[in-house]
Amino acid sequence: MVNLLSCLLLFLLSLHCFVACLAVNTKNITTDQSALLAFKSLITSDPYDILSKNWSTSSFVCNWVGVTCDERHGRVHSLILRNMSLKGIVSPNLGNLSFFVILDIKNNSFGGQFPIEVCRLRRLKVLHISYNKFEGGIPAALGDLSQLQYLYLGANNFTGFIPESIGNLQWLKELDTSNNRLSGPIPQTISNMSSLEVLKLFSNYFSGTLTSDIMHHVSLFLTICDFRILI
Ligand SMILES: *[C@@H]1O[C@H](CO)[C@@H](O)[C@H](O)[C@H]1NC(C)=O
Ligand SMILES: *[C@@H]1O[C@H](CO)[C@@H](O)[C@H](O)[C@H]1NC(C)=O
Ligand SMILES: *[C@@H]1O[C@H](CO)[C@@H](O)[C@H](O)[C@H]1NC(C)=O
Ligand SMILES: *[C@@H]1O[C@H](CO)[C@@H](O)[C@H](O)[C@H]1NC(C)=O
Ligand SMILES: *[C@@H]1O[C@H](CO)[C@@H](O)[C@H](O)[C@H]1NC(C)=O
Ligand SMILES: *[C@@H]1O[C@H](CO)[C@@H](O)[C@H](O)[C@H]1NC(C)=O
Ligand SMILES: *[C@@H]1O[C@H](CO)[C@@H](O)[C@H](O)[C@H]1NC(C)=O
Repeated sequence: MVNLLSCLLLFLLSLHCFVACLAVNTKNITTDQSALLAFKSLITSDPYDILSKNWSTSSFVCNWVGVTCDERHGRVHSLILRNMSLKGIVSPNLGNLSFFVILDIKNNSFGGQFPIEVCRLRRLKVLHISYNKFEGGIPAALGDLSQLQYLYLGANNFTGFIPESIGNLQWLKELDTSNNRLSGPIPQTISNMSSLEVLKLFSNYFSGTLTSDIMHHVSLFLTICDFRILI
């Protein structure tokens, strides 16, 4: 009898879990649209009226300028908005784009801290935010972007250290943190990034030198090395 009861309890528990899991997986293209509208709402200047007219709920989100969706899931796959003089902060709601692979907002005037919510996007392969006005630290959570292949943070106003967690990015091919105000030692963990081909660290305020470990790695794997590091 006790056994039967505990079995029933277990069954009810699993059913509850199943229903709960379904509930959290209800994201769809509508969720993606609201995430992009939240992104748009924090843009304070759009001098060429690129998004203000085009990103309208009267047209399908996958047809918005800069947005592409993938055919398989019908969800937002990439957002590419370069050279558009957009000003504002990046909405944390981008972290809801669960099928997001490419975020490229190179050469705009986005500022403030980069939202750590974006580091939840486990499918993200390209993060290109160079030539903006981001400030504050490079979030350690970037190390959670396990599929990341290209990370461009150059020409911003980032301060603080490069987080050690960067070494977790085992598929990263290119890392550019040049032209910021970063300091401290270059983390040893960089030597663990076995896919790395391009590393640009110049024009910062790093201290110390590249250790022999990193140098060894560099000579083994890097095809282009640009080590004009300001110490
Ligand atoms: C997305 O899901 C919501 C409920 O979570 C639903 O109301 C809406 O119709 C769905 N949209 C599409 C396009 O399937
Ligand atoms: C938005 O821009 C895209 C790409 O330039 C274009 O194909 C589409 O027709 C535009 N939509 C509206 C509503 O202006
Ligand atoms: C952005 O501007 C640069 C420099 O003017 C140019 O080389 C590049 O092709 C532009 N990119 C786009 C997508 O317009
Ligand atoms: C940035 O975009 C502007 C046009 O909006 C262009 O004149 C400039 O050359 C671009 N700079 C880079 C580094 O791409
Ligand atoms: C999206 O994310 C934000 C903050 O990251 C959250 O507050 C919001 O409820 C989410 N919206 C949807 C529709 O999932
Ligand atoms: C970086 O921050 C400093 C100090 O707040 C400021 O003077 C400078 O204009 C900023 N540079 C950029 C490119 O945003
Ligand atoms: C590199 O990775 C190995 C195992 O994956 C780990 O034992 C080691 O501590 C890592 N080294 C650094 C410098 O993070």
